[in-house]
Order: sequence, then C-alpha cells, then structure tokens
Amino acid sequence: MERRAGITALGTYAPANIVTNDDLAARMDTSDEWIRTRTGIRRRHVAADDEFTSDMAFRAVEDLVRRYGEEALAGTDLVIVATNTPDALFPATAALVQERFGLSAGAFDLLAACPGWLYALSAAKAYVESGQARKVLAIGSEALTKLVDWNDRSTAVLFGDGAGATIVEQVEAPYGLAPMVLGADGSGAPHLHAGAVGRCLPNGEPLTDKVHMNGREVFKFAVRVMDTATLEAIEKAGLTPDDIELFVPHQANFRIIDAARQRLGLSEDRVVVTVDEYGNNSTASIPLALAHALDEGRIRDGDRLLLVAFGGGLSWAAGVLTWGGGRYPARAGARDASDDAAGRAGTAGAGTGSEGSS
Ligand code: ACO
Repeated sequence: MERRAGITALGTYAPANIVTNDDLAARMDTSDEWIRTRTGIRRRHVAADDEFTSDMAFRAVEDLVRRYGEEALAGTDLVIVATNTPDALFPATAALVQERFGLSAGAFDLLAACPGWLYALSAAKAYVESGQARKVLAIGSEALTKLVDWNDRSTAVLFGDGAGATIVEQVEAPYGLAPMVLGADGSGAPHLHAGAVGRCLPNGEPLTDKVHMNGREVFKFAVRVMDTATLEAIEKAGLTPDDIELFVPHQANFRIIDAARQRLGLSEDRVVVTVDEYGNNSTASIPLALAHALDEGRIRDGDRLLLVAFGGGLSWAAGVLTWGGGRYPARAGARDASDDAAGRAGTAGAGTGSEGSS
C-alpha cells in the first residue's frame, strides 16, 4: 500500500482566562471598535502567570485522549512540539511531553513562527511516509502573550495562547496529506521578531525580547503569500480551488483571511474563522480552528481541507489534507467542558465565528 500520512486524532486546549477588547481598552489607548474592525478579534485566551507552553501541550494531549481513547496515543514513537515560546531552550518541551505521557519516543521542538504546526505536520508526514516513525504526536503550543509588551497597543491586542495536539500516522489513500508547501524569506526578519538571544539581525537591526512587528508590512506579505501558497498547495494536490470543501487558515486577522477566501473564490460557508475568540495564538491556531469545525459538524470524512499559515521569518506553509481514514472513532461529547476552557469556547466561537465571516 502507498504510504500516506494523515491526521487520525486531535485534541486542543485554551486557557480559562479570557481577556476582552474592553479589558484591554481599560489599560491602554485602544477600543473594542478599533480592534474588531481592524482585526476581527473580540477576545483572546491568555495563559495564567504560572501556566506555560508545556502545561498547555499536556492539556491538549489529554483532550486528544478524552476524544479518541488511550489507543490513539499508544505506540507514539516521535513527539514534535512546534512553539515559539518553549518553557526553556532546552530541554525540548517535546521531551517534557514524552515523559508526562510515558512514551517511548524521540522528541524535539520545532521553531518556525506561526506556521510552526504546519512545518511539524510536514516533518511528521516525511517521518511516517519514509517509515522512520510509525506514529508522530505533532503539537502546536504557544504562550505568546508572555512575549508581548503590554504597553505596545500595536501588538498587545493581537495575540493569545493555546495548544493543539494531533496524531499523524499512515492512512489509506485518498485520505491524508498531499505534498506540502514550505517557504521562507529571511529578508523580512526585521518586520517581525521576538525573544532575542542574539544581539542583532544580520542587517544590524537590534533584536528585542518582546514582539516587534511592522504591522503594515506583515499585512501586505500575509495577503500575498496566503494567495500564492494556497494555489501552489492546491496544484500540488492535483486539485482546483473548487475541490476544496473547507479552508482552515492561520487565524491572525479576519481581513487577511477574508482576502484569501475571496481570491480563492470560496463562499463564506467554506472558511473557518476563530480569530474572534482566540486572537492569534500562533502554532495553536489551525488545530483549534480544526477542532471547532469538527465540533460544529463542518468536517466529514473525505473532505479536502486547505491549510495555510504565515508568520515571522518571514515564513509560510500550506497543504491540502483529505480528512479521515483514522482507526479511532471520536467519542461524542468527549471534551469535558467544565474542565477545559476550550469546551466553552467551542460553543462561543461557533457563533462568533460565523458572524465574523458574514
Ligand atoms: N488601538 C487603536 N489604535 C491603534 C492600535 C490599537 N490597538 N494599534 C495601532 N493603532 C493606530 C496606529 O497608531 C495608527 O495611528 P495613526 O494613523 O495616527 O498613525 C492607526 O491605528 C493605523 O495603524 P496601522 O498600523 O496602519 O493599522 P492597520 O490597519 O495596518 O492595522 C494591524 C494594524 C491590525 C496590526 C495590521 O497591520 C495587521 O493585522 N498586520 C498583520 C499582523 C499579523 O498578522 N501578524 C502575524 C504575526 S505572526 C507571528 O509569527 C507572530
């Protein structure tokens, strides 16, 4: 049988602490109206002071097990955590996940800004399809608000925290991942950077600890690359935009998402919007958007999903995933809403998500 990797299980987590636009307006010179009209964001989930990327990754894996059973995690032989905010530079956050769940697995972190989870998906695909790994736990987990300067209104209003965990393993065609698109343009590094360990960029621009962003340049880049990367991914899958059942883009700004949707000629009911609920939680954003769409019954087996993300680097990634082919039936209502803030958000986000796309 042709080896083809696909996602067979998914779990998510979003912190219970919710910060609304009005909360931000009370502490800085901004307004709900400005944030909503410029970005589509209404609120974001923010990690507690003592809640870090590993904690959120653990919770996402626990949600995966709740939804799909222990069997889904059993036999995992590689853990990849895509994050820009590891608990430490070493040990890898992935190693903490390995230990927590008693996995007999290799483990490494992957740092590729907001497209990090798609990069992890593409790495997992390569490991599985080459036969080097059988089952990969590919996680996106982000405590980005810890890198935000809360006195800088141009960035503070944009970001949130969260995590998504996925099992990637062999599925039978036509299910699974088509060849993916990965891209980077390091000349755009001055436009978006954070978390300095070095002193400056190669062009001499000083690096900073907190997020530094040239919003207008990143906006233009994002609109351009969402267009070119999605078309390239669709072509690599041997499809046309008409063949895409659901567009699940990185959730950074509703205007960027909507511009991409329109360029692809997709109707509003074929895009998932959760940026209103979470803001931009980087590597966690696409897994959370996928979970919302699944919970709302918007994804059926055999649906072709178009995934795309962009971010610092500058970098980007895209791919077409044909959903399904997994061996672990999802348990209805497996998510414990009283225990997991993402459960509450699942309901709230469903309503606001469709508002956002109308
Ligand atoms: N509240 C009120 N006013 C604000 C705020 C705020 N939070 N932030 C900026 N402004 C002001 C500016 O000072 C400016 O005022 P001026 O006209 O008097 O100079 C005005 O609003 C317009 O500012 P712009 O930056 O031109 O606003 P724009 O329409 O471009 O929207 C935004 C800004 C939302 C940041 C947009 O550029 C954007 O979304 N860019 C892309 C960001 C992104 O997607 N980043 C991804 C990061 S991925 C990763 O890897 C981390």
